[in-house]
Amino acid sequence: MSLIEWSDTFSTGIQYLDHEHERLIEVLNDLCDDVCRKGTEPRVTDRFEALHDMVAAHFSLEEKLMRDHGFGGYEDHKAEHERLLDEIRALSLRHQDGDFDSVEDLLAARLKTWFLDHFRSSHARLDTLRP
Ligand SMILES: [Fe+2]
Ligand SMILES: [Fe+2]
Repeated sequence: MSLIEWSDTFSTGIQYLDHEHERLIEVLNDLCDDVCRKGTEPRVTDRFEALHDMVAAHFSLEEKLMRDHGFGGYEDHKAEHERLLDEIRALSLRHQDGDFDSVEDLLAARLKTWFLDHFRSSHARLDTLRP
């Protein structure tokens, strides 16, 4: 079962960002599937690392776009990005410690909520950067 289904309502209108957002959701859903199926280490750890690296690369790109355009909400947006990277690292460590059930619940409570809130609020403002 997918944690998040892509929706056109998430679209920023900036095609390459939207493409990466869709891909991030796919990787998050794959991770969630593994955790829910009680996937074993190190597979789940690898999934967490893949998500973390992909998210970090995406944030670098998005933050550069905001800096290049002198985007007003830059600092707050960047702080939200850093919060997600911290969450991914924390959940991965928790999973490695064997706290599988908590991680399953927290994926929905924290990561899903983060993505949906971020798309609806911070990303909605990126439409001012459309080419
Ligand atoms: Fe983004
Ligand atoms: Fe963002």
